[in-house]
Amino acid sequence: MIGRLNHVAIVVPDLAAASRLYADTLGGKVSAPVPQPAHGVTVVFVELPNTKIELLEPLGEGSPVRAFLDRNPAGGMHHICYEVDDILAARDRLKAEGARVLGDGEPKIGAHDKPVLFLHPKDFCGTLVELEQA
Ligand code: CO
Repeated sequence: MIGRLNHVAIVVPDLAAASRLYADTLGGKVSAPVPQPAHGVTVVFVELPNTKIELLEPLGEGSPVRAFLDRNPAGGMHHICYEVDDILAARDRLKAEGARVLGDGEPKIGAHDKPVLFLHPKDFCGTLVELEQA
C-alpha cells in the first residue's frame, strides 16, 4: 500500500543555521525558506535524488511543532511521509487494522496542496507517519 518516501521532516530551532548545515556541510540542494502560516511552520526543502528533507521551524504562537521543540531543544526527526495512491482507501484499511488516525480522521490539505493524514506514532514503531495522496 505505501509507496514512495515523499519526505522526512526535521524540526529545527534555527532554520538559517540548519540550512547552512545542509547546504555547506552536507552539500545539499537547499531551497529558500517558505513560510506556511496555515501550517504554523517555515519550511526549507532539501532536494535529494530520491526524496526530500523538510527542515521545519515553528511559525507563530500556535505552531504544531512548538511543543516538539520544547521537548527536543536541539531539534529532531519529527515525521516521515509516505505516498499512497488512494488516501481514503489507505485510511479505511489502517483503521480496520486498529491503527489510530490523528484528528478527526478526514484528510487535510497538506504543505504540498495534496490531501494528507497523520497516524499515531505509538501504532507505528514510535514514529509519526504522514500519508500523502500521490
Ligand atoms: Co510532512
